[in-house]
Amino acid sequence: MKDSNVRVMLEESEVDARIDDLGSQITKDYEGEEVHLICVLKGGAFFACELAKRIDLPLSIDFMCVSSYGNNTVSSGTVKIVKDLDESIEGKNVIIAEDIVDSGKTLSELVPMLMKRNPKSIEICTLLSKPERREYDINVKYTGFTIPDEFVVGYGLDYAQKYRNLPYIGVVESDD
Ligand code: IMP
Ligand code: MG
Repeated sequence: MKDSNVRVMLEESEVDARIDDLGSQITKDYEGEEVHLICVLKGGAFFACELAKRIDLPLSIDFMCVSSYGNNTVSSGTVKIVKDLDESIEGKNVIIAEDIVDSGKTLSELVPMLMKRNPKSIEICTLLSKPERREYDINVKYTGFTIPDEFVVGYGLDYAQKYRNLPYIGVVESDD
């Protein structure tokens, strides 16, 4: 599916190949262990599901929804839990699957909050990272792609709730 308003930054095949790599790396790093994947809704959903399919280990998945952005492209306010996890993470090897690390604010609040629930370990796996925008110092173990400071959509990422279903990563050039 192509959208004439969106300039392609990363083709579907590139994204899929990179998620293959991340899945293999995680499979290797957690050999002999179980993984509990936490998907951060809504943006992380497409990535988390693709990643889960490529981790060749016993795996469970849970979903949470946090929000710090409204229908605009500028960060605002503090992070709110809109939907909490269903299951305990105590003693589990948690990997947070995020769509994008931008300022780092969301994860800088989310990780300490989840640490209090006593997981065995906790790491971040993000499909995209915009290091130029970073304001909070967070430790991201797995990064799919480092991208320039442009507002991107597709593969779960939205602009005013649109474009999540694009199977590639792109930049909105017009929105009609
Ligand atoms: P952070 O807290 O500033 O790191 O940003 C976290 C959230 O902002 C991400 O999980 C996205 O949902 C959203 N976000 C940041 N940059 C973009 C972008 O380029 N496109 C779409 N959503 C974005
Ligand atoms: Mg997100």
